[in-house]
Amino acid sequence: GQQHIAVAIDGPAASGKSTVAKKLAKLLGLNMVNTGAMYRAVVWGALQKNVSPNDPAAVVAMLSDFDFECKINQGSSEVWVDGQLLESELRSDAVNANVSAIAAIVEVRELLVAKQRGLLQYGSVIMEGRDIGSVVFPDTPYKLYIDASEEVRAARRAADGEVDAVGKRDAQDSKRKVSPLIVADGATVIDSSEMTLEEVIEAAVAALTAQGLDQSFLDRN
Ligand code: CDP
Ligand code: CDP
Ligand code: CDP
Repeated sequence: GQQHIAVAIDGPAASGKSTVAKKLAKLLGLNMVNTGAMYRAVVWGALQKNVSPNDPAAVVAMLSDFDFECKINQGSSEVWVDGQLLESELRSDAVNANVSAIAAIVEVRELLVAKQRGLLQYGSVIMEGRDIGSVVFPDTPYKLYIDASEEVRAARRAADGEVDAVGKRDAQDSKRKVSPLIVADGATVIDSSEMTLEEVIEAAVAALTAQGLDQSFLDRN
């Protein structure tokens, strides 16, 4: 039968990954998976249970009976913790401040990477995060790395009304031992600092076409 494909999108905070991934998912008819939401959900669960995100042993103990689900609903990923669908909860200042610490814990990454790979059974995906092209789907030929200058990214996040130490989070994500943010082998870098969203989408489609994305995906729309 038909093999499902995975398109990987990585890059630093507020570079435009989710916005671009959402548009590409619609355009190409793929399920869209936001993996940052999964790391954020673990932070939300920890804060809810008074587990310190900075205490790896306590976080790992919490995982042993963590009620966490990730599903595809109408083409995009949802995260549920303790039977609750999490949305705006995931963008709180407290979650922003603690997510890089949680994401540096190897047991957290193992759990979430397994779930991310499992989602491929429900259909082809476009998945965005930090380690999708390097760790989650290293063998996919379809890889993008969306970048933008730190000034531009901080301004975009502020314009969205969030308190978020973007530069600090990037430093933590790039310097950690396990699955640091890197440009994966074979990824095409798109610097969106001076580009509109439409220009980024155009560049992304051109890059994926050059990487050999089947014309049938592009013909769907
Ligand atoms: O939306 P934004 O780019 O600000 O962040 P996000 O994609 O929601 O990711 C939040 C945090 O989760 C990142 O700062 C990383 O610490 C972590 N993360 C990760 O380690 N690996 C991923 N594949 C996705 C997110
Ligand atoms: O997912 P990630 O954190 O990488 O970024 P995002 O939440 O998709 O995008 C951050 C903000 O930048 C959004 O408000 C976008 O509309 C805006 N933006 C963009 O993503 N790309 C551009 N070329 C221009 C603006
Ligand atoms: O059972 P586990 O979560 O360990 O892994 P799985 O059986 O490989 O399923 C991966 C995820 O896909 C599960 O969390 C399911 O809730 C979810 N799922 C989905 O996305 N779409 C469906 N139609 C059914 C399940």
